[in-house]
Amino acid sequence: MTSHTPDLAALDRLTRGRFTCRAYEHKALDAALIRSIVGMASRSASWCNVQPWQMVITETLESTERFREALMARASNHPESESDLPFPPHHKGIYGERRRGAGIALYTSLGIGPKDAERSAQQAFRNFRMFDAPHVAIVTVPAELGPYALVDAGGFVSSFLLAAYAHGVATTPQGALARHAYFVREYFGIPDTQHMICGISFGYAEAGHPVNQFRTTRAGVDDLVRFA
Ligand SMILES: Cc1cc2nc3c(=O)[nH]c(=O)nc-3n(C[C@H](O)[C@H](O)[C@H](O)COP(=O)(O)O)c2cc1C
Repeated sequence: MTSHTPDLAALDRLTRGRFTCRAYEHKALDAALIRSIVGMASRSASWCNVQPWQMVITETLESTERFREALMARASNHPESESDLPFPPHHKGIYGERRRGAGIALYTSLGIGPKDAERSAQQAFRNFRMFDAPHVAIVTVPAELGPYALVDAGGFVSSFLLAAYAHGVATTPQGALARHAYFVREYFGIPDTQHMICGISFGYAEAGHPVNQFRTTRAGVDDLVRFA
């Protein structure tokens, strides 16, 4: 690090420290804190600065609880996928290996073995409890803007996760919620001209919970870049 890069150590700490949280304290965040996180995330780059991202955020414990109950009922009664965007049918090869690695780390942290189908299903269903997070953000983009709006939204989601972490707030990006996009949009009055990307559950992490102890791995630089 040189005097030209005073923020390098901070960004290094933030990108190394952030993780997907799956157990939360039952404690609401101040509205000003949530607004500060969103404001920081909104500085993300986007194609021609169109800033296609939109969010609906549950502001109180009560509104989150009402949505949680409704979503769990929906997921129980209508388990089939109703997503705006197609989910990948499978992850083959190295992508399948990485997916399995993350899944094994998660389930092992909870003492759930590969043959324990019942507890695995219960843990998977905790997605629809939003892991008891005190808030959830629903991220959408206008359908008419096509794939590059999805690229922009991905950058925005990533910034939101880091901005939250920089504020001491833990996050769970959740594709699982987009599985019920039709329901989620209807619940929050989001028009079908918007496509739901994902949810982001967030709040203060339950720091000592076993599920928050494991960390995922990453491929090395040489595995993802070819210098030409
Ligand atoms: C778009 C997106 C959707 C995700 N959906 C889920 C989800 O539905 N449930 C979940 O537990 N984690 C979900 N994750 C979290 C990933 O599993 C996690 O980011 C990945 O395993 C890397 O771990 P880390 O975030 O702790 O570094 C999602 C992440 C992203 C970026």
